[in-house]
Amino acid sequence: MSDYSDRGNKDASITRTDNMPTLTPAHPESGPSHYVGSGGPFLIGDGMTGGYGGADILHDCTISVDKGEIAVIVGPNGAGKSTAMKAVFGMLNIHTGSVRLNGEDITALSPQARVNKGMGFVPQTNNIFTSMTVEENLEMGAFIRRDDISQTMEQVYELFPILRDKRRQPAGELSGGQRQQVAVGRALMTQPQVLMLDEPTAGVSPIVMDELFDRIIEVARTGISILMVEQNARQALEIADKGYVLVQGRNRYTDTGKALLADPEVRKSFLGG
Ligand SMILES: Nc1ncnc2c1ncn2[C@@H]1O[C@H](COP(=O)(O)OP(=O)(O)O)[C@@H](O)[C@H]1O
Ligand SMILES: [Mg+2]
Repeated sequence: MSDYSDRGNKDASITRTDNMPTLTPAHPESGPSHYVGSGGPFLIGDGMTGGYGGADILHDCTISVDKGEIAVIVGPNGAGKSTAMKAVFGMLNIHTGSVRLNGEDITALSPQARVNKGMGFVPQTNNIFTSMTVEENLEMGAFIRRDDISQTMEQVYELFPILRDKRRQPAGELSGGQRQQVAVGRALMTQPQVLMLDEPTAGVSPIVMDELFDRIIEVARTGISILMVEQNARQALEIADKGYVLVQGRNRYTDTGKALLADPEVRKSFLGG
């Protein structure tokens, strides 16, 4: 088990370590018993170069996350954060570099095949079906599963109680923060081992942001790795085991969240002083 003592939010009253849902990752085929790596990161996009077919957007960009840890990517608008996430998830071709999950090279796999391997992705935009109910969104999330999904749905409702109350409502009627909960819940329905979140707190109030970060910490504590892009850089780095500052498709700084927050250069250029 990792040590989370350096995480920012230690207020037990809001992190709810009691009654913690067990979002037990499935996919034993890529689980620890079949670990083929040699102590490397659980998920890594290693030396990724590529883009959308025109000029390269990513330049030798490396992003990784360890088991049960939270890795956060920050950087200016247009830096390539979403592109790096899409590359790791297989949504765009990289012509140099590789993506490995639990030691296995998955560079050639489709996004759907990566989901089957235990990856979940919440994109920055269009991440829910607005005309469908909350519960239908969660059911859609479980599309790859043939087994009983009711227990996982129950775990999602324990994690996000408001979604249970609103389960019969069209997701489009929900607030921004609640929609993001639907999006995260939907991705959890496949019981991923790693959850990739592109700006999960975009457009929500600071209170809702704190709440979402607490829930994300809770998910990580169940052993699920979190790879997350965040505009709320300072707050995100506070809960990050590891942080990446990307600039123009390149790694500019990589360190623990704590070290990046303490770095005067990072503070001045990327965290508003
Ligand atoms: N679908 C796309 N097709 C072509 N270029 C894109 C596409 N999406 C993003 N880009 C370009 O890639 C660069 C990085 O964008 P993006 O990864 O969205 O940055 P960030 O998420 O850091 O704000 C930008 O120059 C952007 O214009
Ligand atoms: Mg983006």
